[in-house]
Amino acid sequence: MSLPKSKIPTPFNPENFRKEGHILVDTLSDYLEKALTGKEMPVLPWNDPDRLTEYFSFDSAGGEKEPLDSFIKRIIDNSIHIHHPHYIGHQVTSPLPVTALVQFCTTLLNNGAAIYEMGPVNMAMEKNVINEFGSLIGYQTGFDGIFTHGGTAGNLTGMLAARQVKTDYNIWEDGVREKDKPGYLISEQAHYSVGRNVKIMGLGDDSIIKVPVDKHFRMRTDLLEEIKRNAEKNGIRIISVVASSCSTATGSYDNLEAVADFSEKHGLWMHVDGAHGMGVLFSEKYRDRVNGIERADSVVIDFHKMLLVPALNTLVMFRNGERSFETFAQKASYLFQKSQQNVWYNSASRTIECTKSALGIIAYSALKYYGNDYYRHYIESRYDLASSFAVMVRSDKQLQLALEPESNITCFRFTAEGYNDQVLNQINHEIRDRIIKEGSFYIVQAELEGKTWLRLTIINPVTSVNDLKELLLRIKEIGTQLVLKREL
Ligand SMILES: Cc1ncc(COP(=O)(O)O)c(C=O)c1O
Repeated sequence: MSLPKSKIPTPFNPENFRKEGHILVDTLSDYLEKALTGKEMPVLPWNDPDRLTEYFSFDSAGGEKEPLDSFIKRIIDNSIHIHHPHYIGHQVTSPLPVTALVQFCTTLLNNGAAIYEMGPVNMAMEKNVINEFGSLIGYQTGFDGIFTHGGTAGNLTGMLAARQVKTDYNIWEDGVREKDKPGYLISEQAHYSVGRNVKIMGLGDDSIIKVPVDKHFRMRTDLLEEIKRNAEKNGIRIISVVASSCSTATGSYDNLEAVADFSEKHGLWMHVDGAHGMGVLFSEKYRDRVNGIERADSVVIDFHKMLLVPALNTLVMFRNGERSFETFAQKASYLFQKSQQNVWYNSASRTIECTKSALGIIAYSALKYYGNDYYRHYIESRYDLASSFAVMVRSDKQLQLALEPESNITCFRFTAEGYNDQVLNQINHEIRDRIIKEGSFYIVQAELEGKTWLRLTIINPVTSVNDLKELLLRIKEIGTQLVLKREL
């Protein structure tokens, strides 16, 4: 008996794929050329969210006739342009073209990475990247790592390991006990994912023990002893310190040697959120920012921030690789044969996610085609440019610097004599709003000690000192107009 023929036509047409793929690469190459000059295009083509949703409404019956190149063009035209030299806002990088091309390939191959069989190349490349970072960090033998989709998940992975290793009962299986609840010492300036992760773990606000910062917005390590003592009086058992290398708002690096001394003294887990600032591992000039990193139990490094790789792509390193297996000590027998539970190449036993995209291949490609020397140059040039920018701000009476930059993140504001902070906050808020809506630059803002600051992340390799001069001129122009309007 012959089987009935499927009524579903095959969606795979290699010839169409070839044709459309060529058009796509041509379109993207033209786009890249234009975006990099920064001419004739706004950084962000501002659109009202509801109007844009309406513009992209579609017919769910399918059978769309719009040619792919026209569709792609509409996506590009309405997107924020991260490769534009005036993109100096959030910590999302302009990906290296080679990583985009490799990701195009891994997307079609769709080899996940829950278990080795489903992504053998990825796991092999991931291991090589982990080995490279183990040596950059200065870990001795026995280290290991794991990739996650993003720094938030990366921080959670490290913090979960801390919880499992440092509580004296099996918290993963038994749940949290009210008595001697685990607590994390966290800088007031830690990224919000750190505090949020404590809550995701079901621990609640009293397990988030905030440590104040000094005038450079670094964790006050001199207060750690006292804060730990007070928390313990309130029934919280401190298990971990989370340090930032560097912090999100101001790019400040916590003192890792001091955090390591304290953690070792009390047997605590030292987790370092290096999502943004761990690129200094490539630089002799700035390496001292993370002295002591080799003493951290876990470290998060985002490739999609300062390592020029498409989002999301995060590496979590563990000083003692065995510890990374304890985090999720559950048994998923349909995935792992018992004898294979603790093998490095079945990554799902050590991550929150089951299926992951081939993050290791993308990170590996960046390192393979660019290499440590390129990264050294890139990191140093971006950090140096932030210092030059600070000099320009400090020498201008209409501007004020929040703090000396330690990385490629800087905070500053427009200022005018006779105006209090409340008014200056409004003015700076308005300046940013106008700048991003007119599309001349993309910058963000940060609130520090009740003041609104304009905040730059000089992340794009093509942003130059002239771009920054142009930005300051525009800020002063708008600021002056706003001040004059107030006086009328
Ligand atoms: C220091 C720091 N940690 C963690 C994160 C969260 O990373 P992701 O957006 O990849 O989840 C950020 C994001 O900006 C960050 O700056």
